[in-house]
Amino acid sequence: MEAEISRCSGPLLCGEESGSQKGAAIMWELNHGVNALATQILEDPFPFVLGSHLALLNSMKEGVVLVDEAHRIRVRNKAARKLTEDLLPETGALTHLGDLPVTAILDDLFRGRRRLHEETVEEVETLRSFQFTFTPCWHDGRIKGVMIVIRDVTRERELHDKLLQAEKLSRIGHAFTELSHQLSNPLSVLSGYAQLLINMTQETKFHSSATKIFQAASQIQQMVQHVLDYVRISKPIRSRMNLNAIVRATLDQLEDQLQNHAVLVKTDLDPTLPDALVDEHEIRQALINLIDNACQAIGASGGEIEIRTTQREGRAHLSVSDNGPGIAPGHLGKIFDPFFTTKSMGKGTGLGLAITRSIAEGHDGSLHVETALGRGAKFTI
Ligand SMILES: Nc1ncnc2c1ncn2[C@@H]1O[C@H](COP(=O)(O)OP(=O)(O)OP(=O)(O)O)[C@@H](O)[C@H]1O
Ligand SMILES: [Mg+2]
Repeated sequence: MEAEISRCSGPLLCGEESGSQKGAAIMWELNHGVNALATQILEDPFPFVLGSHLALLNSMKEGVVLVDEAHRIRVRNKAARKLTEDLLPETGALTHLGDLPVTAILDDLFRGRRRLHEETVEEVETLRSFQFTFTPCWHDGRIKGVMIVIRDVTRERELHDKLLQAEKLSRIGHAFTELSHQLSNPLSVLSGYAQLLINMTQETKFHSSATKIFQAASQIQQMVQHVLDYVRISKPIRSRMNLNAIVRATLDQLEDQLQNHAVLVKTDLDPTLPDALVDEHEIRQALINLIDNACQAIGASGGEIEIRTTQREGRAHLSVSDNGPGIAPGHLGKIFDPFFTTKSMGKGTGLGLAITRSIAEGHDGSLHVETALGRGAKFTI
């Protein structure tokens, strides 16, 4: 039988009178349950976890579980209950902690074949990571139980992964800056000669081939520039500006491009928006990235984009929403990762949102998305 210490650490209830019959029935149930639990704990082979130990265990943020020789859970503290709702069985022998089989580990510890066992497991379904530390508990010269300490290390793992990624990106950044310098000369030669060929082959069958070479070279140049924008470590140059003015100027700049797309662009700009300290070039870049994505998501079938500025709690918010297909739940966790793209080769580098996010963060802000499949997407800085 399991002793749930979160319930038995308080004083025992002793048949208080209650106002209504229903209340009395509940009190009886409660009394009965608590007394049964208390008797069970006193006869428990874990008397050493009573008293001050209980309070101590319950105050810990790590989950603590004690199992007996039959691998049944006898005690779990409050944190274990919270952390492990779906990891631990309510009754019966403990065979798994989430995805981790534990029978052999527990047997080894009870037989003294190991003194300690530590394991970090990532739950496939929930993507949460747990670290389990198993230690035998000695009492009267015998191993009476095994204590399992459970730590949720999801956040730690995420930070570690981010650090690794940042290191990797910094190395890629250096390599790419070098490579792009080397690429820029031959690329300029390629597009220069392609341009020349276009002019020389007017009204011949080679004209469209020359145009294709020129377009391909321009695409590569654009991609190189995009990656360079991402890896370049430049300090923002900030000045006091109005976001609405930046939105209008950016839309002017994109006018031709937007006319080629079957999109209707609406704006809803808060006229009372105060000036903010921003890097105009960067905010334009961020807005262009979001509008580009919205146009590409809407595609040829046409749709609507709305650009809004609002203010909340002393902060300016800039959002771009579209009524395109939205983002698949499976992609949501990855869209801000550098180089993640669902677009075909040459159409997307997968850097637009990563750049936009770093611009937002460079302005002490953030970038987040709201989306539902089939119902568009809204990105807010
Ligand atoms: N408004 C949107 N609607 C639907 N999906 C979107 C939207 N914005 C972004 N996405 C998804 O997020 C992915 C990543 O976007 P991101 O802007 O970082 O890269 P990209 O557009 O693919 O390439 P790049 O911006 O470098 O040309 C896109 O490939 C797309 O799958
Ligand atoms: Mg993009």
